[in-house]
Amino acid sequence: MKIAMVASEAAPFVKTGGLGDVMQALPAELAKIKGNELCLFLPYYKKIKQNPNIEVESVGSFSMELSWRESYVGIFRLKSRKKKLQVYFIDNDYYFGARGTIYGDFDDGERFAYFSKAVMAALYYLDFKPDILHCHDWQSAMALVYCRALYGQWCPYVKTVFTIHNVEYQGWADAGFFSNTLGLPEEYLGHLTFDGAINMMKGAIEVADIVTTVSKTYAEELRYPYFAHRLDGVLREKWLWGITNGIDTTVFNPETDPALKQNYSAKKMEGKWDNKRALREELGLRTDTDAPILAMVTRLAGHKGIDLLCYIANRLMEREIQLVIVGTGEKQYEYALSSIAKQHPGKASVQLAFDPALASRVYAGADMYLMPSKSEPCGLSQLIAMHYGTVPVVASTGGLRDTVLPYNAETGEGRGFTFQSYNADDFLGAIDRAVGLYYNDRDRWNALAKHDMEIDFSWRVPAAEYMQLYTELRSK
Ligand code: GLC
Repeated sequence: MKIAMVASEAAPFVKTGGLGDVMQALPAELAKIKGNELCLFLPYYKKIKQNPNIEVESVGSFSMELSWRESYVGIFRLKSRKKKLQVYFIDNDYYFGARGTIYGDFDDGERFAYFSKAVMAALYYLDFKPDILHCHDWQSAMALVYCRALYGQWCPYVKTVFTIHNVEYQGWADAGFFSNTLGLPEEYLGHLTFDGAINMMKGAIEVADIVTTVSKTYAEELRYPYFAHRLDGVLREKWLWGITNGIDTTVFNPETDPALKQNYSAKKMEGKWDNKRALREELGLRTDTDAPILAMVTRLAGHKGIDLLCYIANRLMEREIQLVIVGTGEKQYEYALSSIAKQHPGKASVQLAFDPALASRVYAGADMYLMPSKSEPCGLSQLIAMHYGTVPVVASTGGLRDTVLPYNAETGEGRGFTFQSYNADDFLGAIDRAVGLYYNDRDRWNALAKHDMEIDFSWRVPAAEYMQLYTELRSK
């Protein structure tokens, strides 16, 4: 099958969050499947252009209209021996190559509309007629719409898939954007119009052959206003598939992770305790204690549930525990968390940093991983934590609900500790249950951690589900 994937980020080239991890692993996993041929399109950001380790070759260039604008489109291809997965970068200095930003510019709508249209033009230029065009989040949403509006004759049999990784960001623009920038046939105005403005995610939802999201529970939740950020009505009209993400177990692997003090596996977990000792030393936590380390590695954003943590912080710090938080984000959370660390030297450490190597050492050295998210489409950190033998304590929402089955003390079944409603006391209750098991029955605790390490979170299963979806779509 010929599959074109389009996204605004993919590790290791550019990553700001979970989407970047998914776009690194999913295309690679699909390319392993016999008969598949993939290409992945990304913007050629300054950060990628200036990275001496990313070697590219020019494949061609042309000029393209975006409404009344004439824009240059350059196509660069990653030099790689992987014939079945080609990575292409869309080059344009005005929109990407000369700016430091990935997201957050005043003209993001125009930047990513340009990118989406350029991807379709590049596919045409390369004469890569995809069987499946698969776009992710609003930044590539318009590729589906341009495909339908302008390329129907060139690839009449293409099937289109749109995946929502986070419905909070939808690509809103004012009503004039349709004619000023997008330059689409009038019949698409209705698909893109929402509340008198333009909403690019809505356009893709309506036009795509199928819409998916990154867990089964989130697919359900998106039908309700609480989760859907106003798109619930539009999403209720569609059949939504939920396919839970995996993690790249070649990247996130405690047996080989070069950032760790000591590599370890489920069969030989002693190495994990060396990492715990080393983490305490690295972060200036007390070493003369048996306390469990509770950790979070996160963007400090509202929906990650940081306010719940702040609310219970005083009571939490009365327990015999140690707390480690790594992340950057909203200033009010950075201040609040830093002040907890200041008040509890040796017991709490807060690192305002985005540091993947430190993150690895925290996943390895901690006992419990906290994720009290208000909503969570899938969440990758809880999967990484479990893979590193760190037991999750999570809000039962979205992908967290699907991947962290509650621990049952009677039977020993389950993977972690969960709480149902978005409530600080319930969160503290779940932490207390976890800490209770840690202190009262260490054998069971260790068995739980080991069990979590042994679960298969690789991309093999989700990639097979995507293949099944593509195959069904093509047979229609
Ligand atoms: C977004 C979501 C996160 C998900 C990731 C990858 O970042 O917030 O829950 O895991 O996308 O799909």
